[in-house]
Amino acid sequence: MSMPAKFRAALHDFGGGNADGALLVKVPARVNIIGEHADYNDGFVLPMSTALFTWATASPRDDRKIRVTSHNVGATCLFELDGIQPGESFSWVEYVKGVAAELEDLGIVLCGADILIDSDIPLGAGLSSSASLELAVAKALLSIAGERVPEPDLAKLCQRAEQRYAGVQCGIMDQYTLNCAKEGHAILLDCRSLEVAQIPIPSEMGFIVTDCGVKHRLPDGQLNSRADECVAAVEILVRDGQEIESLRDLRTDILEANRTALGDVLYRRCRHVLTENERVQSAVQALENGELQDLGTLFDACHASLRDDFEVSCDELEALVSAANASTGVFGSRMVGGGFGGCVLSICRSDDATEVAKEIRANYASVTGKEAWQHIVEPAKPARVISRA
Ligand code: GLA
Repeated sequence: MSMPAKFRAALHDFGGGNADGALLVKVPARVNIIGEHADYNDGFVLPMSTALFTWATASPRDDRKIRVTSHNVGATCLFELDGIQPGESFSWVEYVKGVAAELEDLGIVLCGADILIDSDIPLGAGLSSSASLELAVAKALLSIAGERVPEPDLAKLCQRAEQRYAGVQCGIMDQYTLNCAKEGHAILLDCRSLEVAQIPIPSEMGFIVTDCGVKHRLPDGQLNSRADECVAAVEILVRDGQEIESLRDLRTDILEANRTALGDVLYRRCRHVLTENERVQSAVQALENGELQDLGTLFDACHASLRDDFEVSCDELEALVSAANASTGVFGSRMVGGGFGGCVLSICRSDDATEVAKEIRANYASVTGKEAWQHIVEPAKPARVISRA
């Protein structure tokens, strides 16, 4: 078991006793290859997991309380399982409360537990640190209660927890990826039917994640305002007699015929979702054919659409995408996740990834003076309990 030494030490301090015998849950991070802001529009996404992990350990208590410690945040919270309610203001513990409340709402009687969490996933960087926390807690609580929830239902449960307790109108992409993407594969997920196809990632493709250093703050409502705009666009189109349920159903002719009715902003939001769904299909072909340049070109088009049409970029992301694309061996780059900060994903040959990553860092530092955090993607196994007492 490759438990990080710092987590082993934290577990010991926490009172977990023999770390090797403890119940441990390991949940990877998500890197979305393409299909951004498509999931809550019932569209298509193409994410993979990577070997950055949230770890959780849990031991039962003989009362109905959850005591949860986050080693990253350096904080402990205690709450009762009975009568859980969302907090007045947002904090990381809302994800934990949300998951516990949703499990109990399913009729699962949880035991009180002491939970310790640690994570290598940078927070608020577009790599689904929130979903990995939700799944880690869900799997830990289920495991000590001796219960199971089918994987698709567990992903939906964690999504509901985030929507209700963190107030983020997130889609299903993150929770589904962390639960379902097999090692070495991306998943093509239809966010309406939840059908999944596992798409092997060619070994010659390398992916580098670089953090621009600005944290996005999804609970502040930026993702929600985009989700609201998408709903508003659908309402206008339906009022005009179009038979659509979500932007997934949009076609170019419908969009163009309704350009004036939508107005400039909603027209561009719609155009992003429409073109992004098409890019996902092309990206699947690029993966299947091992076409690095094709995928790189799709990355650049995706980024331009996120910046110009969906307007979720920021100055630091722009500087980083330019620095990355100026680096030798990069075929294309784009922001990943919700946006307004966080990471940029670049594609290169896997054999060159270490050298390319260095050049991206140097280029970004020379423009901004910032030392960027980086990670070379290593598609990992899905969320799992790796040992139990
Ligand atoms: C956040 C949300 C996801 C998805 C992305 C954008 O990460 O949690 O559901 O909407 O933004 O693609």
